[in-house]
Amino acid sequence: MTSRQILVTAALPYANGHIHIGHLVEYLQTDIWVRFQKLRGNRCLYICADDTHGTAIMLRARQEGRSEEELIAEMQQAHERDFGGFDIEFDNYGSTNSPENRELCGEFWAAFRKAGLVAERDVTQLFDPDAGTFLADRFVKGTCPRCKSTDQYGDNCDSCGATYSPSDLIDPVSTVSGATPEVRSSPHLFVQIEQLHGFLEEWTQSGEHLQDEVANYLKGHFLHEPLRDWDISRPAPYFGFEIPDSPGNYWYVWFDAPIGYMASSRQWCERHGEKFDDWWRNEQTEIHHFIGKDITYFHTLFWPAMLKTAGFNLPTKVHIHGFLTVGGEKMSKSKGTFVRAATYLKHLDPAYLRYYFASKLGPRLDDLDLNLDEFVAKVNADLVGKVVNLASRSAKFVKDVGLSAEYPDDGGLFAEAAASGEAIAADYENCDYNSAMRRIMALADRANKYVEDAEPWKLRKDPERQQELQDVCTVTLNLFRQLAVYLSPVLPRLAVQTGELLGRPIESWSETGQPLVGTPVNKFTHMLTRVEEKQVQAMIEESKEEAAADAAASQYNDGPEALENEPLADECTFDDFMKVDMRVARVIEASEVEDSNKLLQLKLSLGGDMTRNVFAGIKGVYTPEQLLGQLVICCANLAPRKMRFGVSEGMVLAAGPGGKDIFVLSPDEGAKPGQRVH
Ligand code: MSP
Ligand code: ZN
Repeated sequence: MTSRQILVTAALPYANGHIHIGHLVEYLQTDIWVRFQKLRGNRCLYICADDTHGTAIMLRARQEGRSEEELIAEMQQAHERDFGGFDIEFDNYGSTNSPENRELCGEFWAAFRKAGLVAERDVTQLFDPDAGTFLADRFVKGTCPRCKSTDQYGDNCDSCGATYSPSDLIDPVSTVSGATPEVRSSPHLFVQIEQLHGFLEEWTQSGEHLQDEVANYLKGHFLHEPLRDWDISRPAPYFGFEIPDSPGNYWYVWFDAPIGYMASSRQWCERHGEKFDDWWRNEQTEIHHFIGKDITYFHTLFWPAMLKTAGFNLPTKVHIHGFLTVGGEKMSKSKGTFVRAATYLKHLDPAYLRYYFASKLGPRLDDLDLNLDEFVAKVNADLVGKVVNLASRSAKFVKDVGLSAEYPDDGGLFAEAAASGEAIAADYENCDYNSAMRRIMALADRANKYVEDAEPWKLRKDPERQQELQDVCTVTLNLFRQLAVYLSPVLPRLAVQTGELLGRPIESWSETGQPLVGTPVNKFTHMLTRVEEKQVQAMIEESKEEAAADAAASQYNDGPEALENEPLADECTFDDFMKVDMRVARVIEASEVEDSNKLLQLKLSLGGDMTRNVFAGIKGVYTPEQLLGQLVICCANLAPRKMRFGVSEGMVLAAGPGGKDIFVLSPDEGAKPGQRVH
């Protein structure tokens, strides 16, 4: 088989959040595919980058009082560290805020202009005079013009289902600053993607590039009618690249983000002395994108249209996966199932999740569930019980003599497992890892039956049967090694350990075809330990605490991410409410918290000698001096909560639209610390 040249990408994670286990579905799925391709002898690159532009980053940087560049640099470091911790190995990890990207964006833009696809039209939008920025629909709330429900978002009403333009809202309010937005009109640039309708119809429906369900979705939702023009520019202020021939306007983040795939590949080419066009303008190169289902439109309509217009390779395949649920539900911060990659790594071996996800991933778009009991059971039964066990039960018996000089009769087991190789490879190629894992575990079952029947631990005690012992161990270790090769895209560390044990690194898929004989066997060192239920629980608990600490740090100021329609918490009964003990309290100590850009530490007096230590997310809103001696209202019977910086024993009440406008309510001076508030 001739070797293929394959460029693979995973979606570029947003720079405004940390990597969590939901993201990992994608980066692991892709990493496994790339490792598989490399093992098969194909030339394959795994390319990714941080997605850094847009309003959310701009607002967040402002809120944290620092530059966007500083924010995205810090995030990128965290992302790369998390990916590394999961053995996700990129050939290049770039940033959309790079000179390479700016230049390529210019190239695409020139191609759009030249093809006559760009049109200019005025767009009327709400503008926040305090924040000095135009407001996307989700940053505006007001009263529905149809049913008059209050507190509705800028584009549709939750109550009556009406859709409208944000300028039709009654009494609109900016959720960024609380100001009353003004209606302003500004010129926007549009790409008339409808001109490429015929091409997109053909490309999406050819049956070659997309999963069937995706092709059908596109046909039913977009391609059955004329494609709407794409609003591709945003007026200043915007964190992004200014459009060269339209000063004061910036490319919308979704224009420069996919181009980031190419910019990151260009960096790789420069580092390796290769030609960019050999990868992106070359019929022989395959381009594979891995993405989640939420970003289908951009990758299956807009991106091919961009590539076609600018004369680059079209994607060979866009592989789309579903979303992660935990215990059958959306990941939840309060339940501790919104687990950050970094938190997982504090408690558990990355190999567990790599294997668990692999065992769950199929070629379709179904959501994938992480069931924590199943996670524990599967890792222990399969990885520890079936795979590693083979080595741990046999290696120690041959550490002085090594493998037999000739491969013994194993009743056809090795040959059978070698013959399964092509079916397993086809499963990997088709992203049917679930099927691949089932085939591999079926082989492991047969190998385990062999060991159990042969009972090397008994042979060992019989001086007459030492040759037989060596032969049994030779078979067992060779069957183990085959499994390690088949699993190596999923479990790269196990492959390295196996290479060390048997003195021969695993470098190619074809190593499953030929048994090792006559080689020394090294001392067996532990490969994978059982996962304990309590480790998983500890991870969930820590995730809950992190969520609580984040909430405390941002309770008064949720930031742009949290401006999305947050559903109401579970109903609070009257009895629940009566349990909340609100007291007037005097601030008797106030100080900044080192290493936190949001928290102040307060000591509150509740009268007598009753005090509470409280962390409040109001740094930058109030200085410690302003608070000292003031009266506030606090929840005095909140269960103490351990936070990164110490124990918080209560909560201070505050209200306000956010930003700097947060008010710690203090009753008039007639109030006495300790007095209960109703
Ligand atoms: N920045 C865009 C992608 C630009 S690509 C040119 C983006 N970023 S993201 O950080 O929100 O998501 C990155 C990838 O992770 C996406 O493919 C997304 O579908 C995937 N996932 C994010 N959360 C996920 C789950 N809970 N489950 C599975 N995949 C998830 O979108
Ligand atoms: Zn309504």
